[in-house]
Amino acid sequence: MQKLKLAVLVSGSGTNLQSLIDAQKEGYFNSEIALVVSNKASAYGLTRAENAGIKALVIKSDKELLDALLENEIDLIVLAGYLKVISSELINAYENKIINIHPSLLPEYGGHGMYGLYVHEKVFADKKDQTGATVHYVTAEVDEGPIIIQKKLIVDYDVIKSPEELQKAVLVIEHQILKEAIKIIEEQ
Ligand code: GRF
Repeated sequence: MQKLKLAVLVSGSGTNLQSLIDAQKEGYFNSEIALVVSNKASAYGLTRAENAGIKALVIKSDKELLDALLENEIDLIVLAGYLKVISSELINAYENKIINIHPSLLPEYGGHGMYGLYVHEKVFADKKDQTGATVHYVTAEVDEGPIIIQKKLIVDYDVIKSPEELQKAVLVIEHQILKEAIKIIEEQ
């Protein structure tokens, strides 16, 4: 069982980051969140990191990001609501060591422009009877890397009345499978 040094990249609220912080505290996995990075100084995820005593950085360039990851000897990068496209230089430097959580059952509702609430608005408009979330490896093709874990949500439209409610329901699944993905990778 490996013990990995994780960097979690966020652009917003950071509820997925929080689920990893809580999982680490509970001993759910062996790995350690060593660094949290955001491209937005206003990201609440940075506050979650500071509250948990984790080093948090606001980064503006891909070079700065790569330097910080190497400096902190990061083993695995977790994209958790990070809305900036990752450079090919970083993908090459961390081949098969970058994972992303996406709020749909990829390959459905993935790709450029498909992120956050947009995904749920599309699923809701299409009245899909199921959706879910996916953790996958990051490659040069957005949302097309090998899948590590997926989990389905059967959508009950008598209960789920809006894209926002769908997003909330899918986030619960995201928080579950993201920590499971870390454990799967530790055991490889
Ligand atoms: C999540 O739904 C994630 O799948 C998507 O962006 C959202 C981020 O949520 N990429 P949070 O910041 O972790 O709460």
